[in-house]
Amino acid sequence: MKFTFRRADLSNEAELRTIAEIDAGIPPLYDADFRNDAETIAKELDFFKNKLTGEDFFDVAVDTQGRIVGFHLVKKVPYLRDLFAGAVYTLWVDPIDRNNGVGTILKQRGEAWARQSKLDHLYTWIHSRNQPSLGLNEKLGYEIVNYKLKKKL
Ligand SMILES: CC(C)(COP(=O)(O)OP(=O)(O)OC[C@H]1O[C@@H](n2cnc3c(N)ncnc32)[C@H](O)[C@@H]1OP(=O)(O)O)[C@@H](O)C(=O)NCCC(=O)NCCS
Repeated sequence: MKFTFRRADLSNEAELRTIAEIDAGIPPLYDADFRNDAETIAKELDFFKNKLTGEDFFDVAVDTQGRIVGFHLVKKVPYLRDLFAGAVYTLWVDPIDRNNGVGTILKQRGEAWARQSKLDHLYTWIHSRNQPSLGLNEKLGYEIVNYKLKKKL
């Protein structure tokens, strides 16, 4: 594989901004109500800078030039009693590098971190039309545990 995987650099504003700009573009792919605008990007950036701790998982895949070709963010969240879970906030691979196993490695690294952190489980939200993400998660052993039904008014 021509990519390397490492933790995102939370002290690197430019790196976080790049990720925030890409990430803000994911929800509008499947839901026109979401906007990929400056306010959304600023909120994302604030979340990365001020809401993540050393207990969360934030990985990037980079190419030989240091260009970010993928990222995966999982937040440690309380679950039941004294248990914690990992909530997948985002997962992305550059379109030109998809279907080469990068998404799989990012998810496997997240899972290794979750096991090490003694989390009970990982979970993720996926739009029902997002076939690549549904396919990837099902391939890696995720099962659908509930449905959100929506009627647009
Ligand atoms: C989801 C995503 C991260 C996958 O990254 P990737 O690097 O292409 O994933 P991998 O190459 O490791 O895995 C490919 C697997 O994805 C699944 N997949 C890919 N395209 C698919 C499609 N059109 N339909 C169903 N499953 C598909 C398959 O299980 C495939 O495995 P296979 O090749 O053995 O059949 C990437 O498509 C992406 O960034 N999408 C846009 C952002 C996004 O939707 N993020 C998730 C938000 S919930």
